[in-house]
Amino acid sequence: MSRHSDIRRTTVPQVTARKGGEPIVALTAYHAHTAAIVDRHADVILVGDSLGMVIHGMDSTLGVTMEMMILHGQSVMRGAQSALVVVDMPFGSYEQSAEQAFRNAARLMAETGCGAVKLEGGARMAPTIRFLAERGIPVMAHIGLTPQSSHTMGGFRTQGRDEETWPAHERDAQAVADAGAFAVVLEGMVEPLAARITQQLKIPTIGIGASARCDGQILVLGDMLGLNEWTPKFVKTYGTLGAQIDRAVSDYAGEVRARSFPAAEHTYGGKSG
Ligand code: KIV
Repeated sequence: MSRHSDIRRTTVPQVTARKGGEPIVALTAYHAHTAAIVDRHADVILVGDSLGMVIHGMDSTLGVTMEMMILHGQSVMRGAQSALVVVDMPFGSYEQSAEQAFRNAARLMAETGCGAVKLEGGARMAPTIRFLAERGIPVMAHIGLTPQSSHTMGGFRTQGRDEETWPAHERDAQAVADAGAFAVVLEGMVEPLAARITQQLKIPTIGIGASARCDGQILVLGDMLGLNEWTPKFVKTYGTLGAQIDRAVSDYAGEVRARSFPAAEHTYGGKSG
């Protein structure tokens, strides 16, 4: 007899149904403990391949592996009870063919238990998105500034500054929606273009550096917490965690060095030892 989990998570159709309605709250998380906190407030948690830079100190997302995504995906799934967890497909795991994408997406879902995957690319990835969606793998698309293609794009540039490029972005958006993506991330895009795409699509757009005129928003958790040394200009920081950690570690180090480290009550077993 099969047994279903008691945990009731936000589903893919519930996210799609939010089109034009209550804005979708999405954040990245990479660990069980932060996922548990984010889970209390967010509809969608993305285990983004940004973890390569944010957690592992890499220069870009290009070196992120399937194994890293699986490990962090499992950790987030342990921490999150109710949000839809989406795991990023890392660079090199899906571009070669639809079959390669299916194998790796199925592995991500089977080994982490996540509810969907995300992959980067517009019209060129549409056949792959269709292949996955028709085989039971929900896909969140990601267009505009796509960090895995930063070398081809010539860096991390805001997309759509030149109005002549808008039709290509609009075609990308329509292609991934027609292929069966359940939502699409618009990254680094000028506001009027993001607004046009949001109006044109029947699926929700989730913006990051793409203005408030999307159906939802996503941020990299460490960025909005003020944890990282460098934060992109477009990000509003809601916390100062980096400075708080620095102060706490400095206070601790100072007390240890001055031999004023709290004694009895901070010993295993309390005052009497
Ligand atoms: O990897 C990531 O964190 C992402 C978000 C920036 C959308 O793709």
